Amino acid sequence: MRYSTLCYVLFLILFDAFLVESGAAGGEKDGVYIVYMGAATEHGSSKNEHAQLLSSVLKRRKNALVHSYEHGISGFAARLSAAEAKSISKNPAVVSVFPDPVYQLHTTRSWDFLKYGTDVKIDLSPNSDSNLSSRGNDVIIGILDTGIWPESKSFSDKDMDPIPSSWNGTCVKAQYFNSSNCNRKIIGARYYYAPDDDDDRLVDTPRDINGHGTHVASTAAGIMVPGASYHGLASGTAKGGSPGSRIAVYKVCTPYGCAGSSILAAFSDAIKDGVDILSLSLGYRSRFSDLKEDPIAIGAFHAVENGITVVCSAGNEGPSEKTVSNDAPWILTVAATTIDRRFKSNVVFDKNKVIKGEAINFANIGKSPVHPLIYAKSAKKADADESDARNCYPDSMDGKKIKGKIVICDNDKDPNLYYTMSEVQNLGGIGAVLVDDTKRGDASEFDDFPMTSISSRDAVEIFAYLNSTKNPVATILPTTVVSQYKPAPTIAYFSSRGPSSISRNILKPDIAAPGSNILAAWTAYNGEATDKSKEIPKFKIMSGTSVACPHVSGLAAEIKSLYPSWSPSAVKSAIMTTASQINNMKGPLTAELGAIATAYDYGAGEISTNRASQPGLVYETTAIDYLNFLCYHGYNKSTIKVISKKVPAGFACPKESKADLISNINYPSIAVFNLTGKHSRSITRTLTNVAGGGNTTYSVTIEAPTGLTVIVSPTRLQFTKNGQRLSYHIIFTPTVSSLQKDMFGSITWTNKKFNVRAPFVAGGR
Ligand SMILES: *[C@@H]1O[C@H](CO)[C@@H](O)[C@H](O)[C@H]1NC(C)=O
Ligand SMILES: *[C@@H]1O[C@H](CO)[C@@H](O)[C@H](O)[C@H]1NC(C)=O
Ligand SMILES: *[C@@H]1O[C@H](CO)[C@@H](O)[C@H](O)[C@H]1NC(C)=O
Ligand SMILES: *[C@@H]1O[C@H](CO)[C@@H](O)[C@H](O)[C@H]1NC(C)=O
Ligand SMILES: *[C@@H]1O[C@H](CO)[C@@H](O)[C@H](O)[C@H]1NC(C)=O
Ligand SMILES: *[C@@H]1O[C@H](CO)[C@@H](O)[C@H](O)[C@H]1NC(C)=O
Ligand SMILES: *[C@@H]1O[C@H](CO)[C@@H](O)[C@H](O)[C@H]1NC(C)=O
Repeated sequence: MRYSTLCYVLFLILFDAFLVESGAAGGEKDGVYIVYMGAATEHGSSKNEHAQLLSSVLKRRKNALVHSYEHGISGFAARLSAAEAKSISKNPAVVSVFPDPVYQLHTTRSWDFLKYGTDVKIDLSPNSDSNLSSRGNDVIIGILDTGIWPESKSFSDKDMDPIPSSWNGTCVKAQYFNSSNCNRKIIGARYYYAPDDDDDRLVDTPRDINGHGTHVASTAAGIMVPGASYHGLASGTAKGGSPGSRIAVYKVCTPYGCAGSSILAAFSDAIKDGVDILSLSLGYRSRFSDLKEDPIAIGAFHAVENGITVVCSAGNEGPSEKTVSNDAPWILTVAATTIDRRFKSNVVFDKNKVIKGEAINFANIGKSPVHPLIYAKSAKKADADESDARNCYPDSMDGKKIKGKIVICDNDKDPNLYYTMSEVQNLGGIGAVLVDDTKRGDASEFDDFPMTSISSRDAVEIFAYLNSTKNPVATILPTTVVSQYKPAPTIAYFSSRGPSSISRNILKPDIAAPGSNILAAWTAYNGEATDKSKEIPKFKIMSGTSVACPHVSGLAAEIKSLYPSWSPSAVKSAIMTTASQINNMKGPLTAELGAIATAYDYGAGEISTNRASQPGLVYETTAIDYLNFLCYHGYNKSTIKVISKKVPAGFACPKESKADLISNINYPSIAVFNLTGKHSRSITRTLTNVAGGGNTTYSVTIEAPTGLTVIVSPTRLQFTKNGQRLSYHIIFTPTVSSLQKDMFGSITWTNKKFNVRAPFVAGGR
């Protein structure tokens, strides 16, 4: 093994400092603005055109242009004053001008402790001992993320077919990255200067010093790597969703966040490069109600217009409702579920009483309960708030009482667990037990510190013990793996929930996929390691809708490789209508606390990787559907004509354009509201036969909640040839005068071979 060590000047910055948003909300500041000018013309929009528009308002400065968007999307990002931004927005060719937003990665792992080290160590040993499951297909997955660690075994191209001829992209040469880092697996790599970046060599490279991008890329399209594990945990064969697909890397995230202006540049490049699928495991904390100011929604619109399927994470703001992000109808929005593998780190107290705990830690403080135990509340500082102390908040506990003890901390205020950990650690605590009902399923990672999570029900027993004895003792056992855990899947507590804040009349999220405790490839950059003697793991466990998203991107790529001509909406429909709502106990999928989950948690359900490639029928959402959506959403024809260059001649917004009509766009799920006073609403859907020729008849099964009558007509659909489209109507009639809450059901078309299920949600005002 040969290491080449490249030195780098040490700097150490806490991530918090990066969360400063450039040109933050309000838009009254000088800073980087995105000028969105709708679709590019067929031959690409010209940089000259953008420069001219810019110079028409900028008299004094040069170098104001940050990015120019020329393919698929037209527009640019530039440094402007608020007055200049306003002036540009008056130009009729401009759809919107808005401050460059900063997005975050959708992982639950805390980046607050991300530290930079001194080296980038690149292990150059050839990754030749991997087994390939396929010679490769021609599908290209573009990943917008933190870059890639190309030396990972997951990205070996051994025995892979040549790069698809449709590829029109590039592998850039940069610091720590050159053309030999691309191969027949990683076929392209680009990076983007975030406007606020310093001259920073670790940033200005497609190389991933974070790990997130490498994890995501290998989850989507990593090849089979036997013998993968995270420091011995979760060992097995690591494999991406589509091991034969190619990866195109677009590094849009740096420690400064993921600039919207960079994301839009990556979309524009990806459209030109010829990718088939785009995977984005990032998003904005607050939701966008104005789609014209959301670079992900804008970029995705044009990508989809160009035949690219765009898959995005739903966000980690759950379990509160109305938290789903990346929820534009042309995006495939992915929620996260748990898998049947859990990480157990039990608490032993008194004379060998055992309580179930969940966490990943690599500590070992012995099997015997010999360490003094204290409830954080009992260590409250005189002047501290009691609930702060219970929750082990900084500056709330008396160090003298904590030192040398295992500390029980409540976790009812949703703090950052890594702060909790470091607070106990800094006061000399030797371990911590968190009381937390919601987060337990997602095993937080505490590295070498003995820390675990227990349920409030189990905590009662430990509190009773504390009350009954003078010198309570306990220990925390090292982590072991539990497989075939039941129930699984369940909704991951962090997964963002519907309804959509764009409109209740579109059901979001769309789909759910594994996103909790997932093992995948990692960066070998060791800047974060506190203990440099410990080997950097080649694979790592990560949680978040970030991880769920590339599972779906991989599945979309598999479908696309089987049916290259399918539209993004056909791919989406295949994934949604074949999803499952059942767990491994043959019961309904449940949410984090055991309640039965709904479509606001998982959309159509958990992905079914084997059924999705044979959906039988698909709901195709057409270009006109999306244009009508924009009408219903409140855009006029002139704005729509700038946004899309594919508006057919004679297109006009329907006379009556109101949000209620969004329910009628041909989506693979249904959301219908305003069902009051026993008035009916009628919705139409159209199915396309994709099962090949032949004569086949589907009949309908309706699953309706009480309080609602759902009638479908016709009840049978007879298809006689491939590609045939047939429509049906659904009439929703409430049987009570006002529906109290949103209700869920489904409409399933079945022949002998296929079940084509569309979920619905219905409600009052
Ligand atoms: C690759 O696959 C072959 C046949 O399945 C197996 O014998 C061999 O051990 C595998 N190689 C590795 C590195 O796992
Ligand atoms: C790329 O970088 C590697 C390692 O730094 C070096 O060995 C190789 O010669 C470079 N290749 C090219 C084409 O520059
Ligand atoms: C391929 O890339 C070139 C520039 O690199 C661009 O001009 C051209 O339009 C692209 N081709 C397609 C089909 O997008
Ligand atoms: C322990 O004692 C405290 C008061 O001293 C009481 O509030 C609490 O309910 C007791 N807990 C249990 C589990 O008995
Ligand atoms: C269309 O909407 C835009 C933005 O709201 C507005 O500036 C424009 O005047 C409208 N055009 C027409 C023809 O109503
Ligand atoms: C609900 O329906 C009523 C009557 O059909 C209509 O006047 C109202 O605008 C609708 N509300 C919404 C939010 O669309
Ligand atoms: C299709 O099947 C139906 C009923 O089984 C039959 O009535 C019809 O004639 C068939 N059509 C064709 C084109 O085979």
